[in-house]
Amino acid sequence: MQQHFIANRWVAPSSGESIPVVDPSDGQVFDALARGNAADIDLAVRAARSAYEGAWGRFTAAERGRLMNKLSLKMIEHAEELAQLEARDCGKPLKQARADAAAVARYFEFYGGAADKLHGETIPYQNGYTVLTIREPHGVTGHIIPWNYPLQIFGRSVGGALAAGNACVVKPAEDACLSLLRVAELAAEVGFPEGAINIVTGYGHEVGDALVRHKGLDHVSFTGSPTIGQVVVRAATENYTPVTLELGGKSPQIVFADADFDAMLPVVVNAIVQNAGQTCSAGSRLLVQRSAYEQVVERLSQAFAKLRVGPAALDLDCGPLIRQTQLQRVAAFLDEVRGDGLAIAAQGQVVAEAPKTGYYQAPTLVRDVPVDHRLAQQEVFGPVLAAMPFDDEQDAVRLANATEYGLAASVWTRDGGRQLRIARQVRSGQVFVNNYGAGGGIELPFGGIKASGWGREKGFEALYGFTVLKTISIKHD
Ligand code: NAI
Ligand code: MG
Repeated sequence: MQQHFIANRWVAPSSGESIPVVDPSDGQVFDALARGNAADIDLAVRAARSAYEGAWGRFTAAERGRLMNKLSLKMIEHAEELAQLEARDCGKPLKQARADAAAVARYFEFYGGAADKLHGETIPYQNGYTVLTIREPHGVTGHIIPWNYPLQIFGRSVGGALAAGNACVVKPAEDACLSLLRVAELAAEVGFPEGAINIVTGYGHEVGDALVRHKGLDHVSFTGSPTIGQVVVRAATENYTPVTLELGGKSPQIVFADADFDAMLPVVVNAIVQNAGQTCSAGSRLLVQRSAYEQVVERLSQAFAKLRVGPAALDLDCGPLIRQTQLQRVAAFLDEVRGDGLAIAAQGQVVAEAPKTGYYQAPTLVRDVPVDHRLAQQEVFGPVLAAMPFDDEQDAVRLANATEYGLAASVWTRDGGRQLRIARQVRSGQVFVNNYGAGGGIELPFGGIKASGWGREKGFEALYGFTVLKTISIKHD
């Protein structure tokens, strides 16, 4: 059984209980995780506090950066091992898992390099005063990580927090912990002091809830569903703990008739198929100008029909979904699509070698989806693309903004003025022009508005969220 990693040691769960680890490619149990509880969280938060007030807190910014770079190199050395763990645990095709292992190393390189470049300002004030601001770490930060990209989300969240000088308690999703336990062990090997990075595994409503409610926690970063995002905010409010939220989206890809279709088509397909559509910034809505709609749907249908789905190890276009309930969730959307008489334009194929006990969903293109249909409004978190036509720029913007979400968007057009008009009017945290970065862009600030969340992670901007600003006013005549 895997144990918690607290203060650079493996620690058995005080409950004595475990959670099965399932391989989504065949539905079989192959390991077990520690089922954490409030007592385990308390141990981890105390370890983080000791690190923050002790050895880790005494590191200079440059020393933190150097150590993070050392861990980045160690991750590169172990990239294949991390990728294999991630592929098996999450059901990711190997090329996706390898990209994720490379990304976590790059996050630590990026934030390692940023650690000693984060500073405050001096502010002009009254005569006889000097006023300065200092960016201080929160102290102990909590990181609730989902199962879709454990390595990548650890990189962006814990990487930023460590660079800013915080000590971290990480709660990975119960479906996907193995790669992060290994990363924490590698961190200890390269010299991270005890308590700087702690991992406590278990169920969200047990160990996640205990983490958010812990009085010793100074900040929490949550990535997951809007429903649990609200639960986390309510719990965090009790102690006035600040929260960063990344809650997914229903991101539109807006294609005008003058776009370069050859460049656009593979990117649009990848934006929904990547990680079997289980991506917060998946491009899950396709808005196409009416004069080009039939042509684009036809070409996309051909591409969808060629997509192949199978076990992670076969490294096809799509792997399985994370678990049975996720497969059921996606199936329920598609049942509704059929029940409401919507047209499925094309579907990929699950290969014959895929075990019947795995959680496979064929990628599906649904056409002429009304803007108020559940498929056009809610996050499916599966490889299902909802296509609809629009008439002109105004109509495109209206449809793009017609959901509760606002995470990412793309606009495909050769018209420079239109690129900017659309980019400025679409309400979302990121807009891509003639490209799309589902999950990518380590250097690029990322996060949502509306139901997509609060605050920004990724890029240098994330460091502001992992610090608190102190103003010091000095009177000296
Ligand atoms: P979830 O929101 O329950 O899980 C995300 C994380 O929150 C996990 O680590 C989980 O253990 C933790 N958690 C659950 N309950 C908690 C609580 N009471 N307090 C603290 N932490 C808690 O998401 P779930 O059920 O796995 O997926 C449901 C849907 O959520 C998906 O279909 C998808 O639409 C969305 N989702 C979005 C993600 C994103 O990247 N924005 C990631 C995962 C899910
Ligand atoms: Mg798993």
